[in-house]
Amino acid sequence: MAFLLALALGALCAALFLRTVGAQEKGLPPGPPTIPLLGNLHIFPTEFAHYKFTEWARKYGGGGACYINTSSFCPSPAHPTGQGHSFYTHIRRYSSSVILSVLYGKRAPRYDTPKTTGFWEAQHEWQLLVEPGSTPLIDIFPFLKSIPEHWAKWKRDAKKVRSLQRAVYFGLLNETKRRLRSGEENRSYMEEVLARQEEFGMDEEMTRYLGGALIEGGSETTSSYLQSLVLCLVAYPEAQKQAHEEIDCVVRDDRMSTLDDIDFFPIFTHCFRPVTPMSVPHATTAAEEGVSSMTQASFSCPLSMPSLSKTFPPALYDNPEDFNPDRYLLTENGTRLGVDSSDLGPNIVFGAGRRICPGRHLAQNSIDINVMNLLWAFDFNPDTRDSQSKI
Ligand code: HEM
Repeated sequence: MAFLLALALGALCAALFLRTVGAQEKGLPPGPPTIPLLGNLHIFPTEFAHYKFTEWARKYGGGGACYINTSSFCPSPAHPTGQGHSFYTHIRRYSSSVILSVLYGKRAPRYDTPKTTGFWEAQHEWQLLVEPGSTPLIDIFPFLKSIPEHWAKWKRDAKKVRSLQRAVYFGLLNETKRRLRSGEENRSYMEEVLARQEEFGMDEEMTRYLGGALIEGGSETTSSYLQSLVLCLVAYPEAQKQAHEEIDCVVRDDRMSTLDDIDFFPIFTHCFRPVTPMSVPHATTAAEEGVSSMTQASFSCPLSMPSLSKTFPPALYDNPEDFNPDRYLLTENGTRLGVDSSDLGPNIVFGAGRRICPGRHLAQNSIDINVMNLLWAFDFNPDTRDSQSKI
């Protein structure tokens, strides 16, 4: 009898304990209803997560933050997508060429060179792999790591990405070394890193991946920004017309624009839809007050970009979904008149704090000069050959 009683008590305690696993902790901002054990995992979005987080932030957080299982999410903006057109690869070639020049002193004269296409192929596979939902939640359930590769597609995919990335990153560094051995220095960034490898305490593997991480950081960000801009110019012909008129007043036909012209033409290069709508998760290292009643340490929060987008309440922006650069003439951060936007800096698109984007100065110059030159040189129109496509 005593045994049965102990068993029943044990079962009750276990049930009560399990009820608390995955439940919303006290003191955190509200969020979607949880279920025992899984919390919100069962409804965690597997693609375009920023849309779902925005919906939840609006529903539970009144446009501010809301709490999802073990993470707090601030509203984040939409990201326009586009595909298939040649402007897409021209822009990619450009951004690859800039970063390859800085890092290895090597241009990408055409998109279809093995290094350029190799990088973009690796990048595509990498993104598929890191998309939420494409791999099981190994951080939360570490035992999943021991599933044999035969039944774990994500392991085979990771291997493939690894070999694609290594082929590009190692190839570029080996090429640089060969060049140095034959006395052809070009004073590129990676040459300097190689010369000071010991001083920086970097072994071969770290050096190769440093170059790789910088190519990743510098290529797709810049090209996504410019690709999105072209799509918006096509979708908003009035804004494009106005931009053409403005650039024509500053830069005549006899020359292309230079960075000195940017002061006369600031609006298009300002806070535009961020290319990393979720940004990179940041975690607190100590208990924090500030976001609602949050007081936990190790709190992971995607540093979402409080920039212009449909995800932001109309109370802050007039027609936030519209591409309307004029709004930056009205107020510094494009908000409605009279709204306090002091916490929205135009540079928030580059992150914040100690992990702020180290390439932001290069990126900003790159964006400035390209926005001006694209507008100076081109009229962007819908592709009328394909009656199905709007843009
Ligand atoms: C439009 C262009 C760019 C945008 C919007 C952008 C945005 C960002 C953002 C949001 C982060 C995360 C910051 C954070 O965690 O707070 C980041 C990190 C980073 N970016 Fe950029 N970036 C751009 C261009 C570049 C370029 C051109 C380079 C290289 C030259 C670069 C290299 C990096 C690196 C290495 C990191 C990681 C920093 C760290 O974790 O400590 N980015 N970038």
